[in-house]
Amino acid sequence: MSSHDSASSDGRLVDFGLSGRTAVVTGASSGLGRHFAAVLARAGAKVIIGARRLEKLEEVREEIAALGADVGVVQVDVADPASVEQAFRDISAAGGLDILVNNAGVTVTKPALDVTEQEWDQVLDTNLKGAFLMSQAAAHAMKGQGRAGAIVNIASILGQRVAGQLVAYTASKAALIQMSKALALEFARFGIRVNALCPGYVETDLNHGFFASEAGQALVRRIPQRRLGRLEELDGPLLLLCSDAGSYITGAALAVDGGHLVSSL
Ligand SMILES: NC(=O)c1ccc[n+]([C@@H]2O[C@H](COP(=O)([O-])OP(=O)(O)OC[C@H]3O[C@@H](n4cnc5c(N)ncnc54)[C@H](OP(=O)(O)O)[C@@H]3O)[C@@H](O)[C@H]2O)c1
Repeated sequence: MSSHDSASSDGRLVDFGLSGRTAVVTGASSGLGRHFAAVLARAGAKVIIGARRLEKLEEVREEIAALGADVGVVQVDVADPASVEQAFRDISAAGGLDILVNNAGVTVTKPALDVTEQEWDQVLDTNLKGAFLMSQAAAHAMKGQGRAGAIVNIASILGQRVAGQLVAYTASKAALIQMSKALALEFARFGIRVNALCPGYVETDLNHGFFASEAGQALVRRIPQRRLGRLEELDGPLLLLCSDAGSYITGAALAVDGGHLVSSL
């Protein structure tokens, strides 16, 4: 890449850095959220990691502190308004807030005919209502600060297409994408950008077994790039949406999926 490729028209380098910014990541006790928290910390942000399991968060806190980063922990159940309110009292006491990554998410895998009301509520309350409550509280905190804010909602390609036995999950992620656009419209006046990041199938320890099976391999053959994503392939897209490099991006749903969404029908 020539220096011209990464420079803006006035010659300044595009800035993916987050030093001086504070980022809250929900669902940071495992999986993608744990990874995202470390990515933001490496980019220079102070990171506040949130989830329900404090002992898991403590492990993550140690990992991120070992990177030399400033890291705080907040216990939060995003589906519980009182818990979100308390979490934001703690977050505000710790200083300002610039970035929120709504990553906490759950799923229930079973035929639609068997999904109980309680299961439906758990998925929608976590993936959709939780992201709304967190975004609303974050916007209240950000709008008086007089500097730019960014909210990134971790949706999924399953918010744009469907797969079997995931009715509550796919509905929650589709709504999360539409909510991101609605909030982008309303929060632009406060200097807050809101975007959805839509990962495709990313290989993790949890799904490694499935993707080694014949059914898993058949799924991989339907991805135009003919492979699963790697966690680190979400890093650039996340930093783009969180940093000044994405300062004119709001209301977008960015798929990172090896072309899965455009696979042939
Ligand atoms: N893995 C993939 O391939 C993939 C693809 C597309 C999208 N996604 C999305 O990425 C996000 C993370 O998925 P993952 O695969 O990393 O799942 P995961 O390992 O199961 O992590 C889910 C996280 O959410 C937290 N969480 C669940 N309910 C919560 C609640 N009520 N309040 C606060 N935190 C809560 C969990 O922490 P506690 O249990 O400690 O609360 C955990 O840290 C989800 O939104 C998922 O839909 C994942």
